[in-house]
Amino acid sequence: MNAKITSGSHLRLERELAHKRVREEPRGLRAETSGGSGLYRGVMPSDPDRGTPCVAVYERRVAASLERVWENVLDWEHLPWLHSDSFESIESLDAGDWGWRARVTSTQRSRGASLLELRVDRPRGRYVVATLEGAGTGDEIWTGLTPVEVDHTDIRVEFMISGVPAESVAEIGAAYTRLYTQLWDEDEAMMQRREALLSRRGEAPTRLPADPVDLGPRGELRSKLPLEVAIGDETYRVVEVDGEWIAHSTVCPHALGTLGEGEVDGAVIRCPWHGYRFDLRTGRCLDARGLRLAKAPIVVEDAESGRVLLAFESREEARRNEKHRSPE
Ligand code: FES
Ligand SMILES: [Fe+2]
Repeated sequence: MNAKITSGSHLRLERELAHKRVREEPRGLRAETSGGSGLYRGVMPSDPDRGTPCVAVYERRVAASLERVWENVLDWEHLPWLHSDSFESIESLDAGDWGWRARVTSTQRSRGASLLELRVDRPRGRYVVATLEGAGTGDEIWTGLTPVEVDHTDIRVEFMISGVPAESVAEIGAAYTRLYTQLWDEDEAMMQRREALLSRRGEAPTRLPADPVDLGPRGELRSKLPLEVAIGDETYRVVEVDGEWIAHSTVCPHALGTLGEGEVDGAVIRCPWHGYRFDLRTGRCLDARGLRLAKAPIVVEDAESGRVLLAFESREEARRNEKHRSPE
């Protein structure tokens, strides 16, 4: 992913080189007819452009399978959410097994969006992100992927950045390396969580407790909200919405994201991985995606003891027990 930290003179030089580059012939294996900017849009370059200086090479081993990594590479939607320090927004123009093309705004650029295209070359275990328009036009970032056993992948990233004066190569290279270290840290955490949750699929579901789970006295719990509660293999989070205590699943129904870290605004929770919003009261996704939060226990207060309980009952039952719901 391409967010550049650069100087004014570098930008001027970059623009000149970009202008030169768009008139060059595509170097790719195949051209597509989509798009029409005259750039080498829709082309998987056969090799990195060795005419463009490589300002740095970043290598690391990530604790994720190759399958998870490819999935992450094609997942354009997570950029401004999972990588919110680095990307402000993304607008997808096209996407498929071949890769994706999108307008992306970086948090480190004040000059508008760049048109990025990511192309995968699975047979050769690599992909390239090319900047087609905007700042950094003509830059290419190549990433090679090598599986290591079943659950690790070695990556090697080459930053082919045009217009970098010789004296700035080390500085620009270091900036890209820092950026990619953070991006891969964030991606690795996402991939590991997905792997862990996916590996549990097919296992017998946790048996829900027959009796309500006692969380403690309401007065003591209030200062601990939002409160995560593990029950068997499941983790729920209890939040307060307009005085009502609601428990919700911490697993996002979209791609198993970390809903336990989701921001709550009124009765709406937003997933930190792709930004989907869910109504905590109904469980429905507000972004018209046909998703629904997993069933969660109902929070009730024992009228006599004042203790808060998590009760695994149906919503209908809960409504019938409305009088016992947490007050305020
Ligand atoms: S995992 Fe994608 S929005 Fe939650
Ligand atoms: Fe990512």
